[in-house]
Amino acid sequence: MSDIEDPKTIEHPPSTLTRRELIKGVIVGGVAISSASYLFPASSLASQSGRGTGERLLTINVNGQQRRADVMKQETLAWTLRHKLGLTGTKLGCDRAECGSCTVLIDGVPHYSCSVLTHTVRDKKVLTIEGLASSDGTLHPVQQGVIDEQGFQCAFCMPGFIMAAVAFLKTNPNPTRSELAQGLSGNLCRCQDYDKILTAMMRGAENMRRASRV
Ligand code: FES
Ligand code: FES
Repeated sequence: MSDIEDPKTIEHPPSTLTRRELIKGVIVGGVAISSASYLFPASSLASQSGRGTGERLLTINVNGQQRRADVMKQETLAWTLRHKLGLTGTKLGCDRAECGSCTVLIDGVPHYSCSVLTHTVRDKKVLTIEGLASSDGTLHPVQQGVIDEQGFQCAFCMPGFIMAAVAFLKTNPNPTRSELAQGLSGNLCRCQDYDKILTAMMRGAENMRRASRV
C-alpha cells in the first residue's frame, strides 16, 4: 500500500470526542490533525516518497528508541517521522522552514524537521511530541499547561509550539511574557490564537518551575 496520504482526505475526529479529549490526544501524540494532505498537491508529496529509487536502511534514535526505516538521501526528517515511523504528531504546514509546525528537538535543540535531512541525524537523539510524556503517562509540564489553559484553537500548530517552548524553557526557566513570545517567534499559528497560546506556555513554564522544586 502507498504511504502517501490521499490529497482529498482530511481526517476528522470522531464527533463523540469532547474538545478537552481531542486536545489531550493532540498534546500526547498529535492524533488526527494533518494539513499536509490538503496544502500540498499529490505530486509534491510523491516527490519525497521515492518508492524504489535508492532508499537505504537507516537507524535513528527517536524518543529514546532505535528506529529503522528505509530512507531516501533527499528525504526530510519530518517525512520520515510521519510517513515511515508513524509519528504524525509532528505536523507539516509550510514544508519550507517558515511556520514551525514541524519543530522537533535534535540533541535538545529545536529544529524545523521539514528542513533537516534524515540521514544527518543518524548519530543524534530526536525528540518528538510523542516522546515528551513520561512512560507512566504523566504529561510534560508544558503539555499540562496547555490542558490547564485550553490554549489552542484548532491545535494544528500545538506540537511545534510545545516542542519549541520545552527547548526555550530549559535555558530560560523564568521568562517574562514578552521574552517567551520572542523565544517562540519561530512558530506561527494560522488561527492567530497567540494570546491564549502564550498564556498556556507561561502556565507550562510555571509548571516546569514547580516540578523542578519537588
Ligand atoms: S512545516 Fe516545517 S517550518 Fe513549516
Ligand atoms: S493553527 Fe490553529 S490553533 Fe494554531
